[in-house]
Amino acid sequence: MSSDRASLIRDLSDEEARAALVLKWGDTEPGTIPAWVAEMDYEVAPVVREAVAAAVERGVLGYPPLDRAGGTVAEAYAGFAQRRYGATVDPAHVLLTADVTVGVRVALEVLSERAPMVLPVPAYDPQHGLGKVTGLEQWSLPVDLDGDDYALDLDELDRLLARGARTLLLTQPHNPAGHVHTRAELEGIRDVVTKHGARVVSDEIHAPLVLPGAEHVPYLSLEGTADHAVAVVSSSKAFGVPGLKCAQIVTGDDATRDRLVDTPLAHNDSWGSLGVVAAEAAYAHGDAWLDALVERLDQQRSLLRSLLAEHLPEARTWPLEATYLAWVDLRAYGHDDPAAPIRAGGVRVTPGAAYWPGLAGFVRLNIATSPERLTEIVRRMGAALD
Ligand SMILES: Cc1ncc(COP(=O)(O)O)c(C=O)c1O
Repeated sequence: MSSDRASLIRDLSDEEARAALVLKWGDTEPGTIPAWVAEMDYEVAPVVREAVAAAVERGVLGYPPLDRAGGTVAEAYAGFAQRRYGATVDPAHVLLTADVTVGVRVALEVLSERAPMVLPVPAYDPQHGLGKVTGLEQWSLPVDLDGDDYALDLDELDRLLARGARTLLLTQPHNPAGHVHTRAELEGIRDVVTKHGARVVSDEIHAPLVLPGAEHVPYLSLEGTADHAVAVVSSSKAFGVPGLKCAQIVTGDDATRDRLVDTPLAHNDSWGSLGVVAAEAAYAHGDAWLDALVERLDQQRSLLRSLLAEHLPEARTWPLEATYLAWVDLRAYGHDDPAAPIRAGGVRVTPGAAYWPGLAGFVRLNIATSPERLTEIVRRMGAALD
């Protein structure tokens, strides 16, 4: 059973990856292995690829249906959330948006008070630009990189909200740390947020990629969150179709949904017809392929552990509980930006400073590739930092 499942994931050859992944591979010099941007070196799930190919064949290249809330993607997402997370979502509370980056921005602009927002750092790099774009002052909530776990500092969150911050941007599962907040951690966050009457925007794009041993608890599935939170979700990261543009904003009540629906269309950069097709196919028919992907990523994280022990024994990583993005502490090797010698040694990883401006000694490593490539990646990293 396990090997049947594993065979659902097909590795792209270098040539195929370079042709398909025009950013990750196309923007990296030949001879260097790209392990940076969050894309996977696997063939897109056949159920999604075939649905998109059939839609292209039918000429579905015009505008998408303008379902501002509900619609076929919303129905498919509600089914997915029930099966995968045991969460009940009302399809009438699910709206479409172009992508998760846009969805988070729209939620901040439409729903948040004009007061500072709290951004836990390290943070996914485009999130650092949200303050500038939305006009909200951005206050950092630093995570203790020398601590044993990745839980947010609730006392500091409490202080920031007491000083006037009104929104928390939560990313769970976390990029770049790979942390999955436990139910108890989320309840702690909720209690501090509700104490101050603040709001949560929860970026849950990596939720389908929670690995064995962890469980994704949608923030909105907690009691007492419906009136102050939205989640921004997408099938694009897990199913490898971020270029198609269709993410979803999940709301918890009619009032929040209505405020978002009432925003002028010009404000909510539109989603794409092929993105709608891909999201429906992924959510409704992608479970078997997704199970196989999770199994493969579980194997990749075990392989990473043994490769780091062999080639970079001084490296520290956090438990990779979700996603295929490993946050690696290379401070012991004495480089401010280890990504530079690593790139000179033939591997492109993302500098840690992209997620925490000024941070020295960290990189983010993408492990969604073949076991052979991952082996060569870590071997080259070890040689580069030796
Ligand atoms: C936490 C997080 N949010 C958002 C995105 C980007 O999503 P989208 O392509 O839908 O804007 C990513 C991409 O890796 C991410 O890791």
